[in-house]
Amino acid sequence: MLAACFLPVSAQTTPSVIPLPSQMQTGLGEFQFQNKTKIAADAYPGDSIWWVLDRFARQFGETTGLKLVKSKPSKAALYLKHNPTLAAEGYRLDVNPCKVVIEAARPAGFFYALQTLQQLLPSRAVMAGAKTCCTATTQWTLPSVSITDAPRFGWRGFMLDEGRHFYGKEEIKKLLDVMAAYKLNRFHWHLTEDQGWRIEIKKYPKLTEVGAWRDSKVLGWGDVKPDGQRYGGFYTQEDAREIVQYARDRFIEIVPEVDIPGHSQAAVASYPEFLACDSHNPHEVWLWQGVSTDVINVSNPQAVQFAKDVIDELTEVFPFGYLHLGGDECPTQKWEQNPVCQQQLKTIGSKNYRDLQINFYRQLQEHMAAKPADKQRHLIFWNEVLHGNTAPLGKDITIMAWVGADGAARDAAQRGLNTILSPQIPYYINRRQSNLPTEPRSQGNGSETVEAVYNYVPMNGVPAELQPRYLGVQANFWTEWVEDAATVQYLMFPRLAAVAEAGWTPQERRAYPDFLKRLQAEDEYYMLRGVKYGKHVFK
Ligand code: ACM
Repeated sequence: MLAACFLPVSAQTTPSVIPLPSQMQTGLGEFQFQNKTKIAADAYPGDSIWWVLDRFARQFGETTGLKLVKSKPSKAALYLKHNPTLAAEGYRLDVNPCKVVIEAARPAGFFYALQTLQQLLPSRAVMAGAKTCCTATTQWTLPSVSITDAPRFGWRGFMLDEGRHFYGKEEIKKLLDVMAAYKLNRFHWHLTEDQGWRIEIKKYPKLTEVGAWRDSKVLGWGDVKPDGQRYGGFYTQEDAREIVQYARDRFIEIVPEVDIPGHSQAAVASYPEFLACDSHNPHEVWLWQGVSTDVINVSNPQAVQFAKDVIDELTEVFPFGYLHLGGDECPTQKWEQNPVCQQQLKTIGSKNYRDLQINFYRQLQEHMAAKPADKQRHLIFWNEVLHGNTAPLGKDITIMAWVGADGAARDAAQRGLNTILSPQIPYYINRRQSNLPTEPRSQGNGSETVEAVYNYVPMNGVPAELQPRYLGVQANFWTEWVEDAATVQYLMFPRLAAVAEAGWTPQERRAYPDFLKRLQAEDEYYMLRGVKYGKHVFK
């Protein structure tokens, strides 16, 4: 039953794949899925290639009503073939009117090939997980195409700040779905802030009894005053484990962040007796925007023990390679006024209070290094730690570059450290994306447009010998101004697609006019997946 082979040649259009594959050639004709199209996958440890294919087949069936049935490779019309010579996340996808063959070395490569395949279908409904779609006569075809693809960078991330506002599990799952569709593979979950602590730590229950709640939903700034309503929320460890599994199923690693010792007023308010530099003063979860000076007392051994205990619980909940300890915007005034901190600075032989922060991290790093191998994590810090002497932390730390990002990343690379590019301008996709009057209250004047985000060139002019230090790119979303998930989505999309392409597609293949053309197919996806998006770039 190879009727699909004889379909007439249809008009050829260039498929709208985002991120653009590194090589793609279209051919003549198309492949048509039928009811009972045969599918096969090669054996792989844990049967994880079959697992990827099964999930696709289920979703495909739910949307199209066409059942895909398991078969042998020789009989199959869609065949997932193990090819260990390909790059870790890379794949080949060959579609001709008779057969679709996908090759990859690893399950992630097959997963990404199937994301591409779903974008080649006549509707984004399968990708969106829509239960029904289109018309009864819609033909589920794929254009003949030959794709060889692999990502430019291994780190393709998105960060969401839930410290300022809390959105909840279902929202995170939705974001993870869209990330996976764009082949993003790191979800950096910013879980703690001055304004809220969002992850249960069993040894310190007050972090969420006290630190997850505040007396205002909006955060005060300028004319905006705290509104007095009780507001907050947090993830239990069980919730977080559910999200971990959801992310793993989509080949996304979660990078949990506890931002310490700065941006920690919610923690300080929970345990002022050992976290505050001035425990005799009152401390509350912050109701305002900005950078609080109420930082953790890094010279108190109990505060160091606290951080070690938090790390212990996080490594149990998040079974991934990295842990982010923050480190941005940490004012040192309170340390400068504290005799124990003054003394400790002398003891470590420095006059730079930033080095107290590094000394704090060094103790946490040693604690981490003493764990069994499967519980060890690589540590990530924001680029302000470069203002101190990072030598005591060795070379196995990663610098996330945001302020003066290109220069900071290069500084990190020259110190022999790995780095990730998340430039405030233009990759902070919480900033206004246009100057239209419909734009929500947020930071910036609208100059971080889809085009500006797209046109940022990662690793521009970086000498070849430093390039291996650049792990990749990441978009960040800070939520001081954003109380509701719909506005998060509106600001995220479609700019996240632009960052995803920078992370995946070779620079020489990227051009905004072409991206804008391909982007037009995405509004159907956003509508069907139920996410809001900036509509002004859609015709
Ligand atoms: C940051 O934007 N404070 C990392």
